[in-house]
Amino acid sequence: MTTKEQRLASLQRAHFNLFQIPATDVIIDLLTDSGTGAMSSEQWAGIMRGDESYAGATSYYRFLDQLEKLTGMRNILPTHQGRASERLLVEVLIGSPADGNGMIVPNNAHFDTTRANIEHSGAEAIDLLTDEGARSETIAPFKGDLDVAKLVRLLNERADDVPFVMVTVTCNSNGGQPVSLANLKQVREICDAYGKLLFLDACRFAENAWFIKTREPGQASKSVPRIVREMFDLADGATISAKKDGLVNIGGVLLIRDDAKFASASNLLILTEGFVTYGGLAGRDLEAMAIGFEEVMHEDYLRYRIRSTEYLGEKLTEGGIAIVQPPGGHAVYIDASALLPHIPPHEFPGQALACALYEQGGIRTCEIGSVMMGEHAVMQLVRLAIPRRTYTQSHIDYVIEVALEVKQFADTLKGFRIVEEPEALRHFTAKFEPL
Ligand code: F0G
Repeated sequence: MTTKEQRLASLQRAHFNLFQIPATDVIIDLLTDSGTGAMSSEQWAGIMRGDESYAGATSYYRFLDQLEKLTGMRNILPTHQGRASERLLVEVLIGSPADGNGMIVPNNAHFDTTRANIEHSGAEAIDLLTDEGARSETIAPFKGDLDVAKLVRLLNERADDVPFVMVTVTCNSNGGQPVSLANLKQVREICDAYGKLLFLDACRFAENAWFIKTREPGQASKSVPRIVREMFDLADGATISAKKDGLVNIGGVLLIRDDAKFASASNLLILTEGFVTYGGLAGRDLEAMAIGFEEVMHEDYLRYRIRSTEYLGEKLTEGGIAIVQPPGGHAVYIDASALLPHIPPHEFPGQALACALYEQGGIRTCEIGSVMMGEHAVMQLVRLAIPRRTYTQSHIDYVIEVALEVKQFADTLKGFRIVEEPEALRHFTAKFEPL
């Protein structure tokens, strides 16, 4: 536990950037759901059984079997996390920096690392959310859907410039909103019509499948693994950060159906990550992933997971705090512009709210707005991401109390200006000054 005075001092030392605060100074850590979950007893047992052979470890084959069962794909590479898979995919499908000049990669909404990897190649990353998906207050079942009319328009104008199409499930940038199976099928048909490859950014595939099962007409009787399989069957490959629905603290996956492209990715993997049967991980990590990718599809787990996020969203809404509706799978996103209407986007209302939640109650959250997304930000959000299998209802009740306290004095909060920032992914290291 820390006092308010200690937390203010910590904020000042961190130049008001919550990524720079030591975890010991945080009481409830909702910065991210990435790699912050608790592994199960089975996974820890798997860690003990891990085979550390350099090539062809038994843990690698367990990992392969599970991923093949899950996705139906044969060409599978382990990587150390999602962005390593993204970097390899971009290098194989676009090329080295500058090779992507003039190219564009459409997505429902790119996550920041995906965007940064694509832009590093010189290509442009374009978000094609539906208008409904870009509004926080509208309640709709699949606000992560890619706007197919916008995709067709883009392809009619610039098909030659599009190396591949991506869809992010669930869509992190607009509130952890799911994508429907019907939408994925439409995107697939359009990609076929224009001869384009379709890749999933599938970090939260199981949460997305649960939303399909519980919200999409005609899907309720299907098992979660069957829906997951139908999602992957529509794609030419996928990047996955296993730190989310792989239920592990570190790990990633790259899947590419095309044999020649897969061979190129394998060679690049050896260059920087390690041999193809471990991809920058220890054998025990592959063992934990094999188990996590199975456990995450258990319906009891998914019901509890989605319901507990929904509980936080309901209580904040009841208390008069506007959130992206409906609550997402892995997080609740507070609409900072609605709570702090007196702070304009260029003064970073999300950063102001995130700092206030930390100072008031030691809760660390993450700005997803103009700090993280720059001019691509469509909303000014603060994400309360829920680590998997980690916090209890009483922890979440404390978060709700603190948020409601902050609401009481929200009109006195001030914005920020950036005094120092790097070229890309500035939210990790930028320094801020209160206005
Ligand atoms: N794609 C999505 C949709 C993500 O949410 C993330 C990570 C990545 C790719 C990259 O994966 O971190 O393993 O390299 N999101 C984390 C978050 C960091 O906090 O949302 P990674």
